Amino acid sequence: MRADEIRTELEAWAEVAVRRLGETSDAKSLEAWRVEHLGKRSGLSQFMRQLSALPADERPLVGAWVNRWRDELQARYEARRAELAAAERQVQLERETIDITLPGRPYRRGAMHPLSKVIAEIEEVFLGMGFEIAEGPEVETEHYNFEMLNIPKDHPARDMQDTFYITEDLLLRTHTSPMQVRTMERMRPRTPVKVIVPGRVYRRDEDDATHSHAFTQMEGLVVDEGIRMSDLKGTLEAFAKAVFGPNQRVRLRPSFFPFTEPSAEVDLVCIHCGGNGCRVCKETGWIEILGAGMVHPRVLDGAGYDSRRYSGFAFGLGVERIAMLKYGIDDIRQLYLNDLRLLRQFARVQ
Ligand code: DAH
Repeated sequence: MRADEIRTELEAWAEVAVRRLGETSDAKSLEAWRVEHLGKRSGLSQFMRQLSALPADERPLVGAWVNRWRDELQARYEARRAELAAAERQVQLERETIDITLPGRPYRRGAMHPLSKVIAEIEEVFLGMGFEIAEGPEVETEHYNFEMLNIPKDHPARDMQDTFYITEDLLLRTHTSPMQVRTMERMRPRTPVKVIVPGRVYRRDEDDATHSHAFTQMEGLVVDEGIRMSDLKGTLEAFAKAVFGPNQRVRLRPSFFPFTEPSAEVDLVCIHCGGNGCRVCKETGWIEILGAGMVHPRVLDGAGYDSRRYSGFAFGLGVERIAMLKYGIDDIRQLYLNDLRLLRQFARVQ
């Protein structure tokens, strides 16, 4: 064969080789291609073997053509190998893909319990008027719960607030009023004393729609020189307007508590009917919300504030009652059941 014939053949062969390389689809077919085209017994080696049949002066030329094609095919082979490897990696990556668009498990949004909400709201109002917040023990001594509040042993007022006794001297507090005395003892002789005390209290009551053996009160106490009943009324009216709206008013009716003199029951304009009279307010237009009065001189003196110099007012309100009025809850027990159907409404409303 002549050199130019070999060249034509070589080029035809190489063209096919290149096309076949393009047809390889994985590591296995690529390796088969390599053995066939670049291996010891490949087509390329056969061209090399034909060199010996050529005249000596043509050998280097044809040898160079064959070598150029070997280098060319080797380079294309490497490129193809990289290409197939990349494609294979791509397939693997796709197989291992995690769908990060999968929605997470939703956490249910929590909400404040209506009682906590009302406490927080009332605290905010009184903080705005310069009060501080205190808390006291639920296990209280007979001394603070009764004695220091001018409710002596064997006084009939003790029967009205019967409770759970732990010992003869220790009991579950029946009201937050003992914190009046504890606060004054802690503060004396400083003035003014301006404090509110939220907390749980206990009574030996049968549970029903309006009574609970455990419930929540908020005590208020102000002591200074020259505190008058009008201060009490003004403070409570500001509270009523802040919590129930600007048209609210309060009404004081004479009452009795051993630790205040004079004492009053305090009414709000009926939230239900706006004062016209309805079933909720028993046609009176008013709803009672708390007890209050001027701190009894014996309580002031007992706690270390000289009643000839100082005076004060106090009040105690039922938090459940406020919550029930505000949110239209008609059974106090609803506030203790932790029924999510009720509680969830507070997540949505505010
Ligand atoms: N401690 C009273 C009760 O639980 C409520 C009360 C009435 C508190 C008059 C006061 C007050 O501070 O002045 O029934």
